[in-house]
Amino acid sequence: METLFLRACRNQPIERVPVWLMRQAGRYMAEYRDLRARYSFLELCKQPELAAEVTLHARQVLQVDAAILFADILLIVECLGLNLSFQKGDGPCISEPLRTGEQIARLPKVEVADLDYVYQAVRLVRRDLPEEISLIGFAGAPFTVASYCVEGGSSREFLHTKRLMYTQPQAWDRLMTTLADATILYLRGQIEAGADSIQLFDSWAGCLSPHDYRKYVKPYSQKVLTSLPTEVPKIHFGRGSALLLQDMAECGADVVGVDFMTPLDWARQQLGSRPVQGNLDPAILLTDRETIRNHTEAVLKQGGGQGHIFNLGHGIVQQTPVDNVKFLVETVREQSSVSFL
Ligand code: CP3
Repeated sequence: METLFLRACRNQPIERVPVWLMRQAGRYMAEYRDLRARYSFLELCKQPELAAEVTLHARQVLQVDAAILFADILLIVECLGLNLSFQKGDGPCISEPLRTGEQIARLPKVEVADLDYVYQAVRLVRRDLPEEISLIGFAGAPFTVASYCVEGGSSREFLHTKRLMYTQPQAWDRLMTTLADATILYLRGQIEAGADSIQLFDSWAGCLSPHDYRKYVKPYSQKVLTSLPTEVPKIHFGRGSALLLQDMAECGADVVGVDFMTPLDWARQQLGSRPVQGNLDPAILLTDRETIRNHTEAVLKQGGGQGHIFNLGHGIVQQTPVDNVKFLVETVREQSSVSFL
């Protein structure tokens, strides 16, 4: 029997709405903070036993229907020869960002065997995960990863990225093609190691107009998603992506992730019969049980039951009380089966 999560991804009959949460493993959990006191974030990612432990622990504590591998969308940039670090409070940092055509022309051909530690973590998680629970592999989409490579870190306006994209079409194509090809190998590696589904994060694609998205981004995300085995469901998520939902679906997504600014019932109308994932505002988890219950019921109603995977509309924030997250998952499990009867 397929897992509940996989059946929902394929729009097959389900007995209740499956639930998992973006950033379900992370600093809002005391056990994670304890580990982080002893290891850096990159050390946690690169030691398969630790990455597997973090993945499995969060899944077990929350009783969600899928585990997402503990890793990061930026690990892949090390395969391009870039120097990645995570600074306390400042987020990711790439010390020599790619700003010129010459730098991009010199990028090496990616050897994703360098990411072997990720595949090892996938194997360890799959070994210890209950068989009715899915394991989601993931990667960043070429645009979102390119934005970090070009900006050197997080950004609000993506000015360097956009300047390169609008003025240097060849360099842009080379960078996006390099990232797309690397991402295909990387996701295939995760699937071969035991991931039964994948999520492609294009977190920042919403900073582009639909026209520019189609011209500068879509072909590369499409290449990634259509180069993976058809039997593995693919979720495609972006923040601020309301106007991009159909294009993101056309990239080859089986499921479209919807952010919390977009009404979920409207998203469903846009997407026809294609399943959706989302979209509770992560800020709701900072409130109280009654508020959480009301908003969760509203999301379940808009999601419409079959073809809906419950999630947040972006990642859990650090200040979130763990008990609220557990309460959310319990509420989804109870309310989504009740509303089916
Ligand atoms: O539980 C999970 O969701 C799996 C693990 C996961 C992480 N990052 C762990 C992480 C996943 C799926 C990601 C994806 C990711 N990483 C995205 C796409 C999703 C999104 O949020 O839009 C992006 C843009 C990144 C890049 C990134 N990594 C940033 C901007 C930061 C710093 C911000 C922050 O929250 O600190 C990270 C670091 C990071 N990735 C942490 C975790 C648990 C915190 C690291 C720490 O422990 O200090």
